[in-house]
Amino acid sequence: MSVRKFPEGFKFGVATAAYQIEGAWNEDDKTKNIWDTTCRTPGAILDNTTGDDVCKSYDFYKRDIQMVKFLGVDFYRFSINWTRLFPNGFINKTSESGLKYYNNLINELIESKIEPVITIYHWDLPQSLQDLGGWANPLIVDWFGDYARALYKMFGDRVKTWITINEPKQIGVFGYGMLYLAPRLNAHGIGEYLAAKNVVLAHARAWHIYNDEFRKIQNGICGIVLACEFVEGATDSPEDIEAGLDAMDFSVGLYSHPIFSSQGGFPESVKRRVAARSAEQGYPRSRLPEFTPEEIEYCKGTSDFYGFNHYSTSFVTRENFKTGRFPVPSFDDDLGAVEIVKDYDRGALDYSFIIPEGIRKCLNWVKKTCGNPKIMIMENGFNTFGGIKDLDRISYYQRYIDAVLDAIEIDGCNVVAYTAWSLMDNFEWNYGISIKFGLFEVDYEDENRKRTARWSVLWYKHLIETRALQHHYLPEFREICF
Ligand code: NOJ
Repeated sequence: MSVRKFPEGFKFGVATAAYQIEGAWNEDDKTKNIWDTTCRTPGAILDNTTGDDVCKSYDFYKRDIQMVKFLGVDFYRFSINWTRLFPNGFINKTSESGLKYYNNLINELIESKIEPVITIYHWDLPQSLQDLGGWANPLIVDWFGDYARALYKMFGDRVKTWITINEPKQIGVFGYGMLYLAPRLNAHGIGEYLAAKNVVLAHARAWHIYNDEFRKIQNGICGIVLACEFVEGATDSPEDIEAGLDAMDFSVGLYSHPIFSSQGGFPESVKRRVAARSAEQGYPRSRLPEFTPEEIEYCKGTSDFYGFNHYSTSFVTRENFKTGRFPVPSFDDDLGAVEIVKDYDRGALDYSFIIPEGIRKCLNWVKKTCGNPKIMIMENGFNTFGGIKDLDRISYYQRYIDAVLDAIEIDGCNVVAYTAWSLMDNFEWNYGISIKFGLFEVDYEDENRKRTARWSVLWYKHLIETRALQHHYLPEFREICF
């Protein structure tokens, strides 16, 4: 069996997000967020479930920590539920019970020698702020900055790694440009670009606040996490290769270019394509808002690491593209490419193809377009319909982590951390609870939400203990419950 060691100092983690695990949606003084609203919208969630009392981590967080401890990871990535802490959305009122909950969680992690890594925003915007326009309203840059500052003040003495915002594309394209993720605005061709600009500016504001007011005393790091699904041309034709590169600019570059490139602002290809389509469609100006020169400078260099989430790869072509195939105007129409489905194995979600070389290619795309930044893989994982002996998940992790090691050792990508998604089964957004990403299984029929270790728990535990990837390693299975 061959064994590949991880570089010295490489860190391992496991992740969750508040709405996906906490439950207790209306306990104490918590108010509604956009997911509480979406889950009450008929037809929005495929299996008609909600996050209302999903894994009950608000009650059972101590067990979650025992599970994290059992895995032996260096850090636990979780997010703050905005309205649990600030019921008004604004920071003028703090919930004492919310504050107590997050303090307990953080303190208990530290006592267990696990580093807390906080995501400030993982998609659960206060409904009160959504009613004022949410990420389409430029004032959110102030609101988010205030919220971030409040968190640094409350927890920054103990929390040293901050993620400002998780996956801007999912917020904007799927939340504002489609009828898909909350808030399901479906303002296609407009909303996703307004959100893109405001999310990037809000991130930059939160980073500057950390940098100017807290870094010296708290000594932490602060960065953004982007959805880095890889998109490649379906064939080697120059047109398809260009379609793949454009798709990366639209999906990832829209957010990474303003922050990580030396030029700043939105990528040229996106600016050009959206401006041209907008003009054809009779709009007086491009639907993609511009950054002012001051804003371009303000956003550049505002991430201490590149947070990288990756699950799968897709393929695009321009061959059969005709405008009208997608809503007009829209993100997809502006990109002007169609997806070609190739014959790869997949997980339970129909878009999650198992293509390990995709993660390596995507890490190299980041290296090339963003000046070889320090990359922290903040999510990677596999989805099934369930089962404890999850050999398919182990095989996915095995092959993807192998490809990450290729990216590090052969290509010189500066990857310093790896995070498995997810600690346990949870509320997979518009798919509800039927899709399982967990290392631990959660029994939703049990009022105590018993958690049982899948085979992959033992596999990941061994990887972390040995700090090495051992090909074809399979742990001996034993039943472990929390
Ligand atoms: C990325 C998101 O950050 C997370 O919330 C989600 O559950 C996973 N992808 C899996 O789809």
